[in-house]
Amino acid sequence: MSDDAAGRAGSDDTVGRAGSGDAVGRAHPRLEGPEKVTGTARYAVEYPVDGVTYGWAVPSAVVRGRITRVDTAAALASPGVLAVLHHGNAPRLAPGPERELWLLQEPAVHYRGQYVAVVVATSLEAAREGARLVRIDYDAGPHSTVLTDDHPGLYKPDHVNPSYPADTAEGDFDAGYAAAPVRVDTTYRTPAYHNNPMEPHATTAHWHDGRLLVHDSTQGTSSVRATLAELFELPPESIRVVAEHVGGGFGSKGYAKAPVVLAALAARHVDRPVRLALTRQQLFGPIGYRTPTIQRVRLAADTDGRLTAICHDAISQTSTIREFAEQTAVYTRSMYAAPHRRTTHRLVRLDVPTPFWMRAPGECPGAYALESAVDELAIAAGIDPVELRVRNDTAVDPDQGRPFTSRNLVGCLREGARRFGWADRNPSPRSRRDGRWLIGTGVAGSSYPARARPSSATATARPDGGFLVRINATDIGTGARTAIWQVAADALGVPPERVEIRIGDSDLPTAPVAGGSMGTASWSWAVVRACQSLREKLRDSPGEVTAEADTTDEVGNQPARPRYAYGAQFVEVRVDVDTGEVRLNRMLGVFAAGRVVNPTTARSQLIGGMTMGLSMALHEEGLLDERYGDWVNHDLATYHITGCADVESVEAYWLDEQDDELNPAGVKGLGEIGIVGTAAAVANAVHHATGVRVRDLPIRLDKLIGVSSLA
Ligand code: MOS
Repeated sequence: MSDDAAGRAGSDDTVGRAGSGDAVGRAHPRLEGPEKVTGTARYAVEYPVDGVTYGWAVPSAVVRGRITRVDTAAALASPGVLAVLHHGNAPRLAPGPERELWLLQEPAVHYRGQYVAVVVATSLEAAREGARLVRIDYDAGPHSTVLTDDHPGLYKPDHVNPSYPADTAEGDFDAGYAAAPVRVDTTYRTPAYHNNPMEPHATTAHWHDGRLLVHDSTQGTSSVRATLAELFELPPESIRVVAEHVGGGFGSKGYAKAPVVLAALAARHVDRPVRLALTRQQLFGPIGYRTPTIQRVRLAADTDGRLTAICHDAISQTSTIREFAEQTAVYTRSMYAAPHRRTTHRLVRLDVPTPFWMRAPGECPGAYALESAVDELAIAAGIDPVELRVRNDTAVDPDQGRPFTSRNLVGCLREGARRFGWADRNPSPRSRRDGRWLIGTGVAGSSYPARARPSSATATARPDGGFLVRINATDIGTGARTAIWQVAADALGVPPERVEIRIGDSDLPTAPVAGGSMGTASWSWAVVRACQSLREKLRDSPGEVTAEADTTDEVGNQPARPRYAYGAQFVEVRVDVDTGEVRLNRMLGVFAAGRVVNPTTARSQLIGGMTMGLSMALHEEGLLDERYGDWVNHDLATYHITGCADVESVEAYWLDEQDDELNPAGVKGLGEIGIVGTAAAVANAVHHATGVRVRDLPIRLDKLIGVSSLA
């Protein structure tokens, strides 16, 4: 590396020569890795704060009703307890659109587990004991908490998330379906799923000189700041939200959640710093969960397996206080072509916490249903399921009627089939057996939108030749910080060692949340523009200089050609012929996701997503007790998730894909695509192994109990 460069850069050429310009695409461990493994990385409730106090949230014990009395005497008499906040005494919040976060403001209870009080004490233990001593009386009414396909409250929402039409139709599905020689008509069910990031939702809040400082475990502090400003009716500049390190989110921290609001309320009330962290069990409450779904899929094809009619009807739930409409059938609109197509979404308002984002909301449950049905269709048509998908590929988005910027689904299927060794597969179910294990293989397609949002960033050249890039991105464990650093180095044309990245603080230039697989696309866009602008400035005025960029206009004017990442998931399972136990032999995914900035962190994202898909297929299931209107399994002893021992082999690959229409870094995003299609590939493999088609997840032993007698 030349020691000219940047800081004293006299010309663009000098800057350009200084760096090799190939940081993007190189494997690199996370920049903050050493801090994390040595325990010096600080999370939301680990910042030392003088005079800190502790909050403990009290959940409602009834599902639906009103609080008639709050007796705080015993709690207040308990050692260390400073205050008990409830609707009768809590500071007021603006009754805006944030109804779900309008906490401790009214006696109404909308779901079991809704936070109805907060105890503040000088220690965590004292707060917890105080919470136990708060007595709350309720008038409870009847409730409805179970999703059914004939619920009288089912309705068609105006739109589904984020802003898709609820229903679409093209051609004449009914006629197309009736006329076809090959048909499947199947219904799939998925249960409620709960996000369980390693770090729970947690906040430290303090009010200081009229300013609110919050350390919050969140996927985006700009958005948390905006929500707090609205609720507390404050100018956004008077709030600072910091999230330097975040221990996972998966969607559940994509928006301000109850703990940050409760901590800020409590801190104002007691006029001291307050720390509030949810317990593991409380993560099964009001922070959001993936809605259960009921999905009917009808597919029709000609005898060559070419789809002629596709219909996907999806049912999901929301709460009584906020409409959250999972876009379950949206995946089906753009994945495979057919002349006759229809998709519908119906929703019902239940007395439950509001569902929320969980990795690949919509696409994940939707792909489970569609990619399972495609497997059933392939069997009905007698065509290999890889080949059937290839035959139904389309260069034009069936929904938008315009060509995709790039696709490569077929490339993923072919490359996956080659690496996995699909070619010699005997299509007959129960055709492979090894001792007491029945062995089967399955495949599924995968796709996820490649979106970007407006962002801002600054780049500064320092007199010592170093550079500082500032952007309020959030690294929730994905490697975002490292990816931005690599992109910035290449945009500046300097070795990455000369670049420092600052993220995770709402005082930095505003940037969108780490969500929707659009973090790297959105942030790198603003970073590249800021770095380019800095290089221009340096030509005229060497020395310390800063350049700013805001991509609002550029991203907003993006030509709207449909853009998606694609993938193909291959799975081999073995099923115990006596017990029905399903074990994963191997899982292999091939993805087309644009440019891959950092192979190390990209691979982690993909295999993490695939592992979550396996977890969805075999383990995860929120079990609701209708009488109490709440999930009975609300810890990691009873809510099962896939662990390391369940994943004997997982491999993720990607195609070398260049798509210049996307964004300056050429990335499509890969936080979510790894989970899309995986559960279908597992279920398809289980069917191939056993001949049993399980259409309601998870694939538990009891659903395969007949395997042995079929032998
Ligand atoms: Mo992700 S579910 O968009 O945070």
